[in-house]
Amino acid sequence: MTGATRGIGWEAARDVLRRRPDTHLVVLGRASSASGILTELREISPHVSHVDIDLASKASIAAAGARLEDLLDSAPCLRCGASSSTRVSTCPTRWRPRSTATSGPSP
Ligand SMILES: NC(=O)c1ccc[n+]([C@@H]2O[C@H](COP(=O)([O-])OP(=O)(O)OC[C@H]3O[C@@H](n4cnc5c(N)ncnc54)[C@H](OP(=O)(O)O)[C@@H]3O)[C@@H](O)[C@H]2O)c1
Repeated sequence: MTGATRGIGWEAARDVLRRRPDTHLVVLGRASSASGILTELREISPHVSHVDIDLASKASIAAAGARLEDLLDSAPCLRCGASSSTRVSTCPTRWRPRSTATSGPSP
């Protein structure tokens, strides 16, 4: 979630964690802003991660995208069951291998 450090995003982030304790929330925000809110969010649920991003910087967005992809790859594969030790990156049923990822939508 972007924009979770204040305003409507902050309210939405807390609401998601309260309503869905099984959710893992990834806060995409500037480190200077996120540092103050992560503790409060983790008091609601321990399943909160932070990825540093400045949405005004293309380089920062690209770096955050790569970090987010790593986080998703290391998550438990839900096709195999959330309690499975199989990670998304190693699951044989993985839906989008990195090697075949395309750079844009098909015409
Ligand atoms: N408030 C409402 O009732 C309402 C209703 C309908 C739609 N909206 C829309 O919802 C959005 C958020 O509204 P809001 O009132 O919650 O605004 P806000 O209080 O100004 O919050 C903006 C959020 O965006 C983040 N942000 C801004 N620039 C960023 C950047 N360069 N990199 C990373 N994060 C950045 C801020 O992070 P920092 O803390 O780091 O600045 C903050 O978390 C807006 O697009 C608004 O038009 C709001």
